[in-house]
Amino acid sequence: MKNYFPSYIRVPLIFFGVAGLLEYVIDSGDMPAFVKHPEVLGVLLLLLFVLIAFEVSYAAIGSLLHKVLPEDEKAKLEAAKDEQPVWVQNLLKKLTRSKKIEQEQDIVLTHNYDGIRELDNVLPPWWVYLFYASIVFAIIYAVRFSMNDLNQIEEYNTEVVEAKAAFEEWKKTAKDYVDVSSVTVLTEKADLVAGKQVYTQNCAVCHKADGGGSIGPNLTDDKWILGGGVKNVFTTISKGGRPNKGMEAWAKKGLKAQQIQQVASYILSLQGTNPAGGKAPEGEVWKGE
Ligand code: HEC
Repeated sequence: MKNYFPSYIRVPLIFFGVAGLLEYVIDSGDMPAFVKHPEVLGVLLLLLFVLIAFEVSYAAIGSLLHKVLPEDEKAKLEAAKDEQPVWVQNLLKKLTRSKKIEQEQDIVLTHNYDGIRELDNVLPPWWVYLFYASIVFAIIYAVRFSMNDLNQIEEYNTEVVEAKAAFEEWKKTAKDYVDVSSVTVLTEKADLVAGKQVYTQNCAVCHKADGGGSIGPNLTDDKWILGGGVKNVFTTISKGGRPNKGMEAWAKKGLKAQQIQQVASYILSLQGTNPAGGKAPEGEVWKGE
């Protein structure tokens, strides 16, 4: 394999090339693909690992060959190294302005500390340009940041207000989204079946399969500790009961708003079923919203 580029150019070239390609191919809205899809980040890290492992072993093989190869083979290898296209050679030369090993005598400094000597290399231009670029960036950044009439907190607040307005707007058309202000009792069979499933999986342990109650209160009578009606029941299930009573905030435990609406509707459909062995009613009679 011809070795056109040194590894410090080859590795970033391949890495950012692939990263850019993934970014282009994967549709991730206005977020970078590797933020939205963690597996992309995984793939990129793996790629980086493989590239580095390859470079390391390539270098190791190179130095091993150097030790074992006869002189004339070595010379051939060296010659092959210089086979980079002229523009690459020129570009590298421009970017590094490095001296060939044979010319090092010209730039070696006079001091000599126990045999340790120093080369008076110029700063590599790629580094100097980066340095100038960072100065320019710093000036633009400082000006924009400190002479802006908005500070970060105000900017944040405006964006929050905008986001809230956009959310309200979105809620008007979003079909599956429910919150306390829009929640209603669902009566479709499919919703009640889904609600029953959520109930059996998560709630029956404490409220009993028929809603008669054990650790948690009876859900079939008309008395409620935390308020009846779909809005209160929705809130109780989402945010939990009183502290340390054992009723958790199910929105935090992963139930979606729609599932909570379904299970709340299912519970309300149990009203008046009066299951055998049910717990005595607790709380106040709920008289409508
Ligand atoms: C670990 C036991 C436990 C589990 C699991 C549990 N609850 Fe409860 N639940 C309770 C307790 C205890 C209360 C009483 C809370 C209080 O007194 O503040 C309660 C209260 C309630 C209330 C209010 C009753 C009232 O009288 O106001 C509703 C509604 C309710 N739970 C629904 C559910 C639903 C739906 C689930 C499943 C998603 C569930 N619970 C899971 C223990 C539990």
